[in-house]
Amino acid sequence: AQTPLTVTVTGAAGQIGYALLFRIASGQLLGGGRRVKLRLLEIPAAVRAAEGTALELDDCAFPLLAGVDVFDDPKQAFEGANVALLVGARPRTKGMERGDLLAANGGIFKPQGEAINAGAAPDIKVLVVGNPANTNALIAQAHAPDVPADRFTAMTRLDHNRAIAQLARKLQVTVGQVKKLTIWGNHSATQYPDVFHAEVDGRPAAELIGDRSWLADEFIPRVAKRGAEIIEVRGASSAASAASAAIDHVHDWINGTPEGDWTSAAIVSDGSYGVPAGLISSFPVVARDGRFEIVQGLDVDEFSRQRIDASVAELQEERTAVQGLGLL
Ligand code: NAI
Repeated sequence: AQTPLTVTVTGAAGQIGYALLFRIASGQLLGGGRRVKLRLLEIPAAVRAAEGTALELDDCAFPLLAGVDVFDDPKQAFEGANVALLVGARPRTKGMERGDLLAANGGIFKPQGEAINAGAAPDIKVLVVGNPANTNALIAQAHAPDVPADRFTAMTRLDHNRAIAQLARKLQVTVGQVKKLTIWGNHSATQYPDVFHAEVDGRPAAELIGDRSWLADEFIPRVAKRGAEIIEVRGASSAASAASAAIDHVHDWINGTPEGDWTSAAIVSDGSYGVPAGLISSFPVVARDGRFEIVQGLDVDEFSRQRIDASVAELQEERTAVQGLGLL
């Protein structure tokens, strides 16, 4: 039998953690019938709750689950990790300034980056889910100088999936018929969901939609503000859908994206599409041989350019702010 891969999950006792761990343990993250060892990281106050989840994982008798360990020390938690899902983060609380939020998250993602640098497996792949995800990924990456920069990614797959669902509903097609949708920029309200390269059964989605006002006034804000809509309706933030998107992101990274389609992920920019090199920004990407590559050569019209630039400007501001805090 193949040796199990080690997956480290932070924030394991949180609501995304609870929706995520059982799907990883069932084999859906790695695919290919790979066995998995879980290493869970929590803050000391939540270790016991994470241990409770570990008991439930036992009780599922998942054939592919090779063990679960719980830690409150990042150095131990990331030891030998092949995949790291950084879910735990400091949420913005009432009255908190952005600088305080970035500083609090620096206190989490800097030591985690150092721990990944010190002890993760050579093929480590990191997905940051905890917000502000793009900038948290940048902080972790900056403290893992021995790990190739492209192993640090942030999640915009939930936004991607939300956009596909909205578009499919509008055009009355199935989600599987929608291809080549793109989320650009930051995982925040400035993100830009781009349908101008999207296809439905090979036909341009933009033509099928017809009116630009639906795009500008309904689709884009609906996708960008979907997180707030979920909180308002469900009474709690997106959890199972975020977990599902994390499964999709890592599964595709490892196993490749389907021929004739692409997905969206926030990955380190090489300067493509005018996004300053080094920023972790969302792009249209394909995955091959365990690597994400930015889809090249797409036309970007004025409507799209303005929106991509606005989101990238926000990422630059966040980067400048964490530089000012000495976190990069
Ligand atoms: P939650 O508050 O239910 O759980 C977070 C968990 O992280 C808690 O159990 C907490 O104890 C733990 N934690 C805090 N600091 C930690 C540290 N230093 N090490 C290990 N664990 C730590 O939050 P939830 O709903 O699970 O969300 C987690 C994060 O994911 C939030 O930052 C949220 O904003 C973000 N998110 C991102 C999405 C995306 O699309 N990128 C979508 C939805 C949520």
